[in-house]
Amino acid sequence: MTLTSTAGEDALANATNEASLARSIARSQEIRADLVVNPGRYRMLTGVRPTGHMHLGHYFGTMHSWKTIQDMGIDTWILVADYQVITDRDALGPLRERVLSLVADTLAVGVDPQRSTVFAHSAVPAANQLMLPFLSLVTEAELHRNPTVKAELEATDGRAMSGLLLTYPVHQAADILFCQANLVPVGKDQLPHLEQARLIAQRFDKRYGRAVKDHPVFRRPEALLSEAPLLLGLDGEKMSKSRRNTIELRMSADETARLLRKAKTDSERVITYNPADRPEVSNLLMLASLCGAGTPREIAERVGDGGAGTLKKVTTEAVNEFLAPVRARRTELAANEDYLVEVLHAGNERAREVAGQTLDAVRAAMHMNY
Ligand code: TRP
Repeated sequence: MTLTSTAGEDALANATNEASLARSIARSQEIRADLVVNPGRYRMLTGVRPTGHMHLGHYFGTMHSWKTIQDMGIDTWILVADYQVITDRDALGPLRERVLSLVADTLAVGVDPQRSTVFAHSAVPAANQLMLPFLSLVTEAELHRNPTVKAELEATDGRAMSGLLLTYPVHQAADILFCQANLVPVGKDQLPHLEQARLIAQRFDKRYGRAVKDHPVFRRPEALLSEAPLLLGLDGEKMSKSRRNTIELRMSADETARLLRKAKTDSERVITYNPADRPEVSNLLMLASLCGAGTPREIAERVGDGGAGTLKKVTTEAVNEFLAPVRARRTELAANEDYLVEVLHAGNERAREVAGQTLDAVRAAMHMNY
């Protein structure tokens, strides 16, 4: 097999176009229905970059589903994507602290280390070694056409493309494929990477055959698209750690109240839910709603002509009440660094075991088993 075909490149470049997105959404719904019936068929892997403390955007975007998926009896793997930090930026920052903070956040939202595997990809050499055969299965053109990589390059304000940025979707494929995950909860920006992982799995089989008859070396991962509505930051802009417009899980109730008091709203007194015309007010209503205060419209009616002040009070109460148990657990966890390290070590150990098995199968298929 040669890699001259452009089919793969097109599949990648088109992974986020409308028709393909509609297919991914439909497929995610099918999978969601099947998860309940056949939880044993799935291994879930999710990856998070340890670039700071987790916030409400992360929570409602993805973290809340980790416990649900785990509690359904699905084998749950949470990857701390520490190598991705050197893809995204020049400096690592206080990485060790951030990794342990992420482990604390993960456990605080209900991930149970007895049932789930929490690990860092830098700690799994056999998984990283898959980069070599995998890189031989992709073309440079394909890498350059990955729309998410292009967008990430543009977001760096003129920094040159590094070899790692260009190839990080291949590294991500190694994350997904080494542990035989077939269920990857993602936002739509990650669809091209998932398509890349599927292509690599297919091409590996095509080039090296199947290790055991009818048993491919790699499973075919599928995306589980997030259904959560997108939350804006408190300034009405895209939520991001660097803009400081987020509420972090670890913040105190007072800090939360202070930040919400400063949240941007508009000058209309009567509160209504209208995301198109009143994005900031509607975002607070949505946030309060996600935290259990009722539907956004119900909350708007309750606040009525109480104005932005009342809306912020209602939102603050909802957020603080919702986060109270998570924060209590997190405070306890954060005080016990030894325990966090222990959890990570156990997860790394488990990941290394599985990665070793996968690498053995890869070497066998490649006739490198001596
Ligand atoms: N690239 C993902 C992000 O930026 C993080 C990630 C790394 C990931 N490896 C993964 C996600 C494997 C899912 C599966 O958010």
